[in-house]
Amino acid sequence: MSGNPILSVRNLTKYYGGSRSFFDKTIPPVRAVAGVNFDIAPGEVLGLVGESGSGKSTVGRTVLRLHEPSSGRIVFDGAEITRISASRMRALRREMQIIFQDPFGSLNPRSRVEQIIGEAVDLTGPRSREERRQRVVKMLEQVSLTQEHLRRFPHEFSGGQRQRLSIARALAAQPRFIVADEPVAALDVSIQAQIMNLIAHLQRETNVAMLFISHDLGLVKFIADRVMVMYLGRIVEMASVESLYRRPRHPYTRALLASAPVVDPRTARARPRVLLQGEPPSPADPPSGCAFRTRCPFVLEACASRVPTLREVSSGHSHACIRDDIAAAAAVAATASPVQPEGI
Ligand SMILES: Nc1ncnc2c1ncn2[C@@H]1O[C@H](COP(=O)(O)OP(=O)(O)OP(=O)(O)O)[C@@H](O)[C@H]1O
Ligand SMILES: [Mg+2]
Repeated sequence: MSGNPILSVRNLTKYYGGSRSFFDKTIPPVRAVAGVNFDIAPGEVLGLVGESGSGKSTVGRTVLRLHEPSSGRIVFDGAEITRISASRMRALRREMQIIFQDPFGSLNPRSRVEQIIGEAVDLTGPRSREERRQRVVKMLEQVSLTQEHLRRFPHEFSGGQRQRLSIARALAAQPRFIVADEPVAALDVSIQAQIMNLIAHLQRETNVAMLFISHDLGLVKFIADRVMVMYLGRIVEMASVESLYRRPRHPYTRALLASAPVVDPRTARARPRVLLQGEPPSPADPPSGCAFRTRCPFVLEACASRVPTLREVSSGHSHACIRDDIAAAAAVAATASPVQPEGI
């Protein structure tokens, strides 16, 4: 990555709950995130994918300090936000916004649109009433809503429109970084494409950096520049979108891609099949060594004894698996020309 990152995350770890007393070990803590490292460049969209419970939202929330990390460093624009004062953090809040999955729960039901978006506009500096209103209308227009909506309450909108409001609210603060946590997962499929197009368009227009969280590999491919794949609290693979989808290396990534719906039947044939069986283990009792070993078709004895570290295997492409032979085979399979359907 060239230049300074807008966000740097080092060794981020987050445990939830567990017994409060040192002597009482009856309730084990949940290890939601374990030693996660990544950087995001200004204007970059970094995708974060993984199954439910892998820790994606926890990463998104701890980097904004909506949840306190158990350990690790989060550096935003050169300032370590895990250490700064509350007043400095309040000032930084404007620059770091979030779009939640649930467009119903994330907007105050008792506030009118003008107030909801106006509060975000206020963060950018004092304005006269009229200037503020004009700015709110401008934000509404950016998400294809209008002045007519100013006096309405959130319940008067559809799910897709509410998500447009959430996007307008996030951008009204003129942030430099946004976490989008499954922003279209709660919407009808017919609305998802519109909202994805809107997010992609506004991201390009404003050049805001984004952590885009989704369990849907197709959405991440559409919007992200780079992708991280998460399994049981750890990043198992990180690469550019182009490299990850063409040459997935980690057995888990390959399994995820194999189980995603395939649009092009030719890639379906060419793709090495790795089937994902069973459920992920509990983060309250993760397996020793590589957490994916209990579901991995390529497991070796050594996988139980050591946590594999994320290693760069080609330029900008890292994975955490000791089986380089498997990764190499995947790369060869991906470069081989697809099998021609019979009779053509
Ligand atoms: N506030 C909390 N208290 C206790 N445990 C939590 C809390 N939030 C999340 N967890 C647990 O931490 C783990 C990671 O959860 P997280 O919500 O980060 O996963 P996720 O990848 O976002 O999943 P999903 O795709 O379902 O949104 C899960 O086991 C979850 O049950
Ligand atoms: Mg989540």
